[in-house]
Amino acid sequence: MTAPASPAGRTLSGEAFPLTPNPAPASDADRAALMDKPVFGKVFTDHMARATWTGGAWSDRGVVPLAPLPMHPGAAVLHYAQQVFEGLKAYRWEDGSIWAFRPDANAERLQDSAERLAIPWLPVDDFLASLAALVQADAAWVPDEDGSCLYLRPYLMATEPSLLVQPADTYGYVVTASPVGAYMSSPDGVAIWVSRGYHRANAGGTGAAKTAGNYAASMLPQQQAKDNGCSQVLFLDAREDRFVEELGGMNLMLVFSDGSIATPRLTGTILPGITRDSIIALLREEGRAVRERDIELSEIVSGLESGAITEMFACGTAAVVTPLARLKSDDFDLPIGDGQPGPVATGIKKQLTDIQYGRAEDPFGWMVRLA
Ligand SMILES: Cc1ncc(COP(=O)(O)O)c(C=O)c1O
Repeated sequence: MTAPASPAGRTLSGEAFPLTPNPAPASDADRAALMDKPVFGKVFTDHMARATWTGGAWSDRGVVPLAPLPMHPGAAVLHYAQQVFEGLKAYRWEDGSIWAFRPDANAERLQDSAERLAIPWLPVDDFLASLAALVQADAAWVPDEDGSCLYLRPYLMATEPSLLVQPADTYGYVVTASPVGAYMSSPDGVAIWVSRGYHRANAGGTGAAKTAGNYAASMLPQQQAKDNGCSQVLFLDAREDRFVEELGGMNLMLVFSDGSIATPRLTGTILPGITRDSIIALLREEGRAVRERDIELSEIVSGLESGAITEMFACGTAAVVTPLARLKSDDFDLPIGDGQPGPVATGIKKQLTDIQYGRAEDPFGWMVRLA
């Protein structure tokens, strides 16, 4: 495999985030044990990137040994959740190089989220440099098995010790890295619980931002999903409890028997997923009709019963493309298709992951080299 000669072939510089090496990194044997089938997000590498916002500017940029954060118990983030975050992956290609998928899109979404939470913007260049510096420091932690990669978690948080309900005047930026394998799978296929009564986001709220509070609101329905044998929740709109929006941590796609695709339109209450956007582009490129529109739960129930809907899948950075096998709620329990991964989900997953792992051309110039 060769690195593409497209503009995507540029390698990012991490110079703006100088490295203070961890004096006691994991031994080769410990690292290998930790990287053997890691549970998603439970294993962390030797370093983290960080920067500080004080006096109206970002400073103190660096990559430092992973350590607990020194935080005042009155830090505003602990009380009012003034925080935003991102999630993206670094992929090791067969030639050993390490790449990120559309990291500039994550940088821009972090800025959009920050704006909604009245948090100062982190410049795109700082975001990209922090990823490159961290991945270059912890390159040994990037797995090389197919489907595995290094999950990067950048976040911004209000650190000012203050119980006043107002935007803080100091913030921290941190990026951690975790080797990961597949996020969500089950031998019987993934079942989804439709949450009734509990909602994730309201009009005018923070649903389109990637911020901690949205996920806090999803914990109880997520627990209900588990209690009902499902691995994820599907949320309906808060106004009418009628239109499907998204899952707790991923977007939703439906495939119809005529080969067309539909996905809920971005209403301001849904996270604009980068995987969603990429899949729409790839499907349209191959000539499929993809409609971003309102989708009623009743349309899905009748479509599954009649066979008009042949596949449903979830998509997101962590989930990649996850075919769904059942849709359940208090008053129905429906198989999706024949319960096996369908051809559209299987095909688009391969197309996307082949680009991410450097096995296929990158027609949109999405891949950015980190190391
Ligand atoms: C609520 C929610 N929706 C959708 C997504 C998918 O977004 P992306 O494809 O950018 O990872 C995520 C994951 O980040 C999410 O947390």
